[in-house]
Amino acid sequence: MVRNNRHVPFDAYRAFGPLVRSLPPEAAHRLAIRVLGANLLPAAPAVDDPILATTLCGLRFETPIGLAAGFDKHGEVIGPILRSGFGFVEIGTVTPRPQAGNPPPRMFRLRRERAVINRLGFNSEGMSTVTERVAAFRHRGAPSGVVGINIGANRDSADPAGDYAMVAGTAGALADYVAINVSSPNTPGLRALQGSEPIARVVTEVKQVLAKTPSSRGGPPPPVFVKIAPDLEGDALAETLMAVRSAGADGLIATNTTTSRPAGLRGAHRHEAGGLSGPPLFAPSTRVLAEAYRLTEGALPIIGVGGVASAEDAYEKVRAGASLIQLYTALIYRGPQLAVELARGLANRLREDGYDHLSEAVGADHRDRPATRTS
Ligand SMILES: Cc1cc2nc3c(=O)[nH]c(=O)nc-3n(C[C@H](O)[C@H](O)[C@H](O)COP(=O)(O)O)c2cc1C
Repeated sequence: MVRNNRHVPFDAYRAFGPLVRSLPPEAAHRLAIRVLGANLLPAAPAVDDPILATTLCGLRFETPIGLAAGFDKHGEVIGPILRSGFGFVEIGTVTPRPQAGNPPPRMFRLRRERAVINRLGFNSEGMSTVTERVAAFRHRGAPSGVVGINIGANRDSADPAGDYAMVAGTAGALADYVAINVSSPNTPGLRALQGSEPIARVVTEVKQVLAKTPSSRGGPPPPVFVKIAPDLEGDALAETLMAVRSAGADGLIATNTTTSRPAGLRGAHRHEAGGLSGPPLFAPSTRVLAEAYRLTEGALPIIGVGGVASAEDAYEKVRAGASLIQLYTALIYRGPQLAVELARGLANRLREDGYDHLSEAVGADHRDRPATRTS
């Protein structure tokens, strides 16, 4: 089922991990990108387990474990990420024009909780540079794996809603899927685009521009996913989802980071402004995922993201309604071998519970019990 395609010990991150984590978070991130870019990590054992292989929106995912947006914002290390065992990677967020983001420091580790607070604020090299990079990656004869492009608005844009179609028109042809990020807490006013009117406009315009841009991959335009905040609740969530659905979005990503600070956080940086990610986000994020699945009656595929750090976490997201899983913060604390560890563990959990395929377990909590396990 799981084969080792290069006979090298897969513990390189153990050598680099302590060094990386001893650096300030952004310096550590830059080093991680360099290590990956220099191909210093061996390829991970390939996961080719039929219980996990999934086709969704016409895309083939060899494993449902993906790397969330924010790690490879500029599309610098797509190949190395896919070779390290992720079934898909979402690059970005990409803005139309290059922008620096917020002043540093703007990323903080909460070590006790294995969490992170960031207020990077869409530091982006801009759509032209990132698009050229993705084109070069495609040209090189890419490793298998799905590449999503996460798109956003410039902070000083006169028409933030219009920025999304602009980036989709430039980068979308190279994307396997496009993710509309209206849920970052670090660009003032951005989350207001989750309101039913603006999100309907954004989705409609992005779909229109993608329909007119021939996909460089051949075939139909890439599917469009909308990434929502974990702080969206009740009627607001229901209205957003209704608008997203009627505007023709193909799926959801639940969720981004949270501006709330769950009780009991002890990390010294817990009061820093920004979005919280990692284990403290797991419960609120999974609640929103479950609610989104319930409100859309399972009709929109959902990528579950927020606080996943173990195979059990991934399985819980699947049972709450996720067809695919993403993570980012756990990678910071555990290293890239986690992708394969989670895939294997998830396959084991599915088999233990008698499933023949991942898709059978999606949303199982809504069928097997009156309330979700996270509620
Ligand atoms: C440092 C950092 C930067 C991020 N940047 C982005 C981004 O540019 N766009 C986006 O949609 N999400 C971004 N995210 C959010 C992640 O994609 C993810 O939704 C969130 O961190 C929850 O998952 P996790 O708990 O596994 O990290 C970022 C997260 C972190 C920690």
